[in-house]
Amino acid sequence: MKLRFLLTLSILLGSFTGLTSTSASANGDDHTELGEQMEVIGKTFRSLRRAVRDPAKNAEAAEMAGKMLAAAQASIDHDPMWTADQPADEQADFVAGYKKEMEKFIQLLTDLKAALEADDNEKANEIVGALRDQQRSSHKAYKKPDED
Ligand code: HEM
Repeated sequence: MKLRFLLTLSILLGSFTGLTSTSASANGDDHTELGEQMEVIGKTFRSLRRAVRDPAKNAEAAEMAGKMLAAAQASIDHDPMWTADQPADEQADFVAGYKKEMEKFIQLLTDLKAALEADDNEKANEIVGALRDQQRSSHKAYKKPDED
């Protein structure tokens, strides 16, 4: 009897962890779809910030802005992980606010790519500053704190 109970419990726990892992990405680690896109954004932004300082690297930097743009466009339809921890009646507003911020982000990246293609490094540097500010404020608002 006790054995059967333990068996049932382990099956239940097994299916529970199976369920929770479906919200993570297909490659089995603990990253969400959004987390995967953010990894791309984070790594590319690091290289881009360096490249933007050198006008000889504008073509390369414009390509990096394009890569970040594609990742941002892929991010807008994935809700932040933190959504599930918001009160049920606030989740829709939370996701709407996130999407609005992501739209601003997409616009900034579109402008950055255009500025680099036009060899306007002053403007490009300004936009990089705005992106850093937005990263800070958006993460504060939408990135689950214990993830830092
Ligand atoms: C230049 C700007 C940005 C950079 C460099 C950046 C970078 C990152 C990095 C490296 C992570 C951690 C990924 C991981 O380990 O899973 C992350 C997570 C996250 N970022 Fe960003 N990010 C930027 C802008 C934004 C913006 C504008 C938003 C919202 C509109 C945002 C929302 C999030 C969220 C919600 C997570 C947590 C992932 C999840 O909930 O699934 N980020 N970001």
